[in-house]
Amino acid sequence: MVEVRIRSARVGDAPVLARLRCEFKCEDEERAVPDRDGFVVECTRWLRDRLAGGRWVAWVAECDGVVRGHVFLQRVEKIPTPFPDRTELGYVTNFYVQPGYRGHGLGRALLDAVTEHARDHLVDTMVVWPAERSAALYRRAGYTTPTELLELALTDEA
Ligand SMILES: CC(C)(COP(=O)(O)OP(=O)(O)OC[C@H]1O[C@@H](n2cnc3c(N)ncnc32)[C@H](O)[C@@H]1OP(=O)(O)O)[C@@H](O)C(=O)NCCC(=O)NCCS
Repeated sequence: MVEVRIRSARVGDAPVLARLRCEFKCEDEERAVPDRDGFVVECTRWLRDRLAGGRWVAWVAECDGVVRGHVFLQRVEKIPTPFPDRTELGYVTNFYVQPGYRGHGLGRALLDAVTEHARDHLVDTMVVWPAERSAALYRRAGYTTPTELLELALTDEA
């Protein structure tokens, strides 16, 4: 029986989160990583800074004390208004569970932790760019297709 725990990520999780980030980005990728160790060092530094405080928050899923998955939220500030209002937007990203641990609800539990945090912190709207296969999971967790949002996809420009 595996003991599962969802908890907030800490600065000390940065090295494992950097390794998992590399796994995530290499999944379904045919290109070889030019410098895996160098990437993990740089990514660890980046994550340490972000997890130390500021606009990024993250959660990890531990199985028997080992981090097997994670999700990140960037809380984007809205400009103050003179009326009571929700003060932030939430950008959900870097959502990953290691292949051997998928399909047991870890992903859903991570998304629920993000949503609970967002509700408590007056986040107005959460946005995510889902992978094709993950869209159904987001929908089950309450996400819907936007009706008002416009996007300008600059990567489509020649
Ligand atoms: C998305 C992901 C984090 C879900 O983790 P999980 O612990 O398996 O999630 P749950 O067990 O709570 O839910 C399972 C659901 O995830 C989705 N899913 C299953 N395999 C998936 C995959 N390889 N990639 C994306 N989503 C997947 C399905 O909707 C599945 O539901 P189903 O079994 O009814 O089809 C995990 O599959 C993953 O890391 N996928 C690869 C990375 C990815 O696509 N991340 C999302 C980017 S927006």
